[in-house]
Amino acid sequence: MRLVHIYAAIVLVGAVFFNTVVLMPALRRIPPAHSAVVAQKIGAGLMWLGGAAIILLGVTGFLRLWMLGYLPAMLSPRVLKIASFRWLALMIASWAALFGTGTLSATWYRTILTKKLSYSAGLRELEDRRAEQARVSGWQDRLAYINLTLAVLAALGGIMASS
Ligand code: HEM
Repeated sequence: MRLVHIYAAIVLVGAVFFNTVVLMPALRRIPPAHSAVVAQKIGAGLMWLGGAAIILLGVTGFLRLWMLGYLPAMLSPRVLKIASFRWLALMIASWAALFGTGTLSATWYRTILTKKLSYSAGLRELEDRRAEQARVSGWQDRLAYINLTLAVLAALGGIMASS
């Protein structure tokens, strides 16, 4: 469980870093029509990878807490009195927030960013969709920086809790 937890953490933190530090700046440097296609194709892969890592981290993390006998302590007010439990709480809180931002991102990706128009759609619908996609893309960019902060905090919590 510990092995899977650590590998999943490596994959998640790596994917979030790659997205924010390599992919996003590269997309800003290529023409919009090309960047939309590249973002769609790579975005889908990153979404699957990140989603799988977040689920694995939750499953293995809670199982580790249970195996170590920490679950009752984590659910009581004692949690904030012991340093290593405070680090564990930081890891779990960051994970929960990442779960929320990841779900929001995936929902936007499916419902707005990759939405197809019907054949009967006119210029107005096309323009509306383009405006909606531009607005959501701006938020996706902000979310990427939030995700990077959360992933770094979660890894810090894990490292400090185990040392
Ligand atoms: C983004 C999410 C997370 C990241 C990046 C992360 C990262 C880490 C890291 C780097 C360690 C140190 C591993 C070691 O040296 O043994 C660790 C340990 C640990 N994590 Fe997480 N973690 C995350 C989510 C969670 C969640 C949701 C839970 C529980 C609900 C959890 C429970 C634990 C426990 C109990 C340990 C102690 C190490 C052990 O298994 O002995 N983690 N985590």
